[in-house]
Amino acid sequence: MGGLFGRAALRGLRCGLHAPGPGLLARTCSGDSEPSSFKGGPSWTRERTLVAVKPDGVQRRLVGDVIQRFERRGFKLVGMKMLQAPESVLAEHYQDLKRKPFYPALISYMSSGPVVAMVWEGYNVVRASRAMIGHTDSAEAAPGTIRGDFSIHISRNIIHASDSIEGAQREIQLWFQSSELVNWADGGHPSSVYPA
Ligand code: PPS
Repeated sequence: MGGLFGRAALRGLRCGLHAPGPGLLARTCSGDSEPSSFKGGPSWTRERTLVAVKPDGVQRRLVGDVIQRFERRGFKLVGMKMLQAPESVLAEHYQDLKRKPFYPALISYMSSGPVVAMVWEGYNVVRASRAMIGHTDSAEAAPGTIRGDFSIHISRNIIHASDSIEGAQREIQLWFQSSELVNWADGGHPSSVYPA
């Protein structure tokens, strides 16, 4: 079978394309089953993560900058919405922090205005997006990271990104219906982000 469609279909079979649930698309591919140009290379996994521009990021008109950074890095936007987060969603999202002294202030801040929730997909996107947003405490966040460039206090730190693959799956399911996520094709052009 020739052509891009044929190669893509075969690759899907070879790489074990797991059914994309509402949360995480996990597509693994070992070096052995790759074309010769990738033989011996590392295995790779495509992931999804939840990124949310918090109310202070929206107020400060930083949504476009955040999207631009993720797009330039090569990640793929597969879901996005602006919403005033219901307290029930925030309570579940931050369930592990209920006993922290800052919890009431965190919930109040997160419900003080709209947030922009997004699902980004790509190679190692969970780890990479944590690096891109920077340290939770703005004082520790390196210049060049989103928090390091825009935030001066931990209680107004602009953006959230899932901290693990499992966390990402849980958070995506909490914030998005599966019908709100779009599985769009990358094109398979030779110079696209991922090798065809
Ligand atoms: S902790 O204390 O180690 O569990 O906190 P951490 O994992 O660094 O952060 C968890 C989320 O809590 C937010 N946070 C705060 N909000 C308001 N005030 C204070 N002092 C504070 N400390 C931590 C932090 O931004 C994390 O939220 P997300 O949405 O994940 O960025």
